[in-house]
Amino acid sequence: MYTTSIEKFIEDIPKAELHLHIEGTFEPELMFKIAQRNHKEIPYNSIEEVKNAYRFNNLQEFLDIYYAGAGVLITEQDFYDLTWAYLTKVHKQNVTHVEIFFDPQTHTERGISFDIVINGIRNALEDGISKLGISYKLIMSFLRHLDESSAFKTLEHAIPYKKWITAVGLDSSELGNPPSKFERVFTKARAEGYQTVAHAGEEGPATYIWEALDLLKVTRIDHGNSCLDDEQLVQKLVASQIPLTLCPLSNLELKVITDLKDHPIKKMMDKNLLVTINSDDPAYFGGYINKNYLETAKALNLSRKQITTLVKNSFKASWLSEEEKERIIKEIDFYAYQNQISKN
Ligand code: ADE
Ligand code: ZN
Repeated sequence: MYTTSIEKFIEDIPKAELHLHIEGTFEPELMFKIAQRNHKEIPYNSIEEVKNAYRFNNLQEFLDIYYAGAGVLITEQDFYDLTWAYLTKVHKQNVTHVEIFFDPQTHTERGISFDIVINGIRNALEDGISKLGISYKLIMSFLRHLDESSAFKTLEHAIPYKKWITAVGLDSSELGNPPSKFERVFTKARAEGYQTVAHAGEEGPATYIWEALDLLKVTRIDHGNSCLDDEQLVQKLVASQIPLTLCPLSNLELKVITDLKDHPIKKMMDKNLLVTINSDDPAYFGGYINKNYLETAKALNLSRKQITTLVKNSFKASWLSEEEKERIIKEIDFYAYQNQISKN
């Protein structure tokens, strides 16, 4: 018998989060506060009303509300507060490393400067290191519903901040906006020294995952659910151990799946895919990282050993140095040993 509950086992284990949109952590309480101080209108009268609006039938319905919410963010302090609120929350959940997305075009398109956005986010992330002990990498994501020239312009904005940004990514409305649309932008980004990742196979087909790998040369796939439709693709992902950053509660809320019991993560682990659990947009999907682990573990009856593997994967799939990965994986092994989980 185990001496700790599954809840406590998940809470206490050190974790990394690799798929998190900072704009997706905007909790209604903070949204009201920032809207008020910026004298911005929001179409809700109460927190209850906001929460009731968070019912989505697909990705686009969510994105429309998510971009509207982000519209009240104006000052560097706003971006700082948003990021700091996320960090303090996940610190309590034993997250020790984060690799987070920000969507500059969501803000530059409405006249907010790139500098304001990145300075606010980065100052909070730096405080996260010194005050909370959370390390980080930053991923600048292009909005795929916008055109190539807007993405090129955004990449130009990012060049002076190259030292602060580890990777570029691709998000927003997937269907009808295949990775091939941004092949040239990603080629330039790689030439500038950025890592590349892309959302692919969330609502889109397996062919979009092929494009992300072959044309954008990504080193990680965000979501990737539809890879299971293509056995050759699965074989490639297994052989290369290119990680998939899965987001179970997001998939449920956006109707990518109808029941968590149908989530593909267990099947993917059985096939030796390198998969991780993440929260995507936790303020909108009803749960931060620990809830994603817990609900998934319960729905799929995951063992503590499988949960330990997923947590180790979160560090393996990160951009931490090999030494840092080795150190933290030893720590996790020790945690598992203390909880009577065998190594093999
Ligand atoms: N932007 C924020 N969350 C997203 C998601 N789940 N898919 C695509 N773009 C997003
Ligand atoms: Zn995402």
